[in-house]
Amino acid sequence: MTKHKLIIGSCAKMKEIRNEQVHLMVTSPPYFNAPFDYKKLYSDYEEYLTILKSFAGETYRVLQEGRIAVLNIDDMLVDGEKFPIVADAIKIFQEAGFRYRDRIIWKKPDGYIRISRRSGVILQNPYPMYFYPDNFLESIIIFQKGRFDYKSISKEVKQESQIDKHEFQTKGWYKTLWEITNVLPGSVLEKNVAAFPEELPYRIIKLFSYKDETVLDPFAGSGTTMKIARNLGRNSIGIEIKKQLIPIIKEKMGFGNSQSMFSNNSDTFEVVIRGKNGN
Ligand SMILES: C[S@@+](CC[C@H](N)C(=O)[O-])C[C@H]1O[C@@H](n2cnc3c(N)ncnc32)[C@H](O)[C@@H]1O
Repeated sequence: MTKHKLIIGSCAKMKEIRNEQVHLMVTSPPYFNAPFDYKKLYSDYEEYLTILKSFAGETYRVLQEGRIAVLNIDDMLVDGEKFPIVADAIKIFQEAGFRYRDRIIWKKPDGYIRISRRSGVILQNPYPMYFYPDNFLESIIIFQKGRFDYKSISKEVKQESQIDKHEFQTKGWYKTLWEITNVLPGSVLEKNVAAFPEELPYRIIKLFSYKDETVLDPFAGSGTTMKIARNLGRNSIGIEIKKQLIPIIKEKMGFGNSQSMFSNNSDTFEVVIRGKNGN
């Protein structure tokens, strides 16, 4: 039996979550004012970085000693200027107390780009200065709070949470380059949400948490992390600012058509909606 809680509000504060209640944080924050997805969401880059700082500090507080925080994020091109979000997020997480552990590059298939084919410009104008590359890559940055005590996990729990070595080797989990197909346009539940593919939280949850532990996604979106946490026998906590995503998240997680608290196969799903001033 697993428990799942969705908090509607901003993850700048995570007051519903106790200190050290969480075993793994995996998320994908908005990529600043990304054209199409988050146009003009933040008044400027400083405001965006301020949110990231609060979220990093709260993540440090709620995460257990030795545990991992993972961000899927990328630098963002807005009006011809690239914002160094990955570098800034690394610095912000380090300043919050985390150790920067690793960076994995997520590569999307060659045939598909979600936003725009900028490289076409040079085909129209095959001259110097018309070069605008298409972006196939995103970053997955991994941080750790202190050191993990490997002896704290029982033999039984280790056994139950074993990683499939065949999957690990054949799908290239061992590399710093992960080739994963992104969510395709037209996917109904992910409409208007820049969702990441299920394979991404699947790998992270398998690699960095044990069965029955609690996984947090502070920018829950359509609930991809929560769904995979449930499928893998982990508890989840999601935070999402947009109330209208509640039915999408319920549906995606397999808790559709219900009130705020109910049980399904003995797994439970609870929604907490904060008041207007965030209380
Ligand atoms: C990139 S999407 C996450 C998509 C998610 N990984 C999925 O697979 O569906 C970022 C989400 O963060 C939400 N969001 C933006 N600011 C937030 C905040 N301060 N607190 C909580 N959620 C926020 C947005 O509404 C959006 O749904």
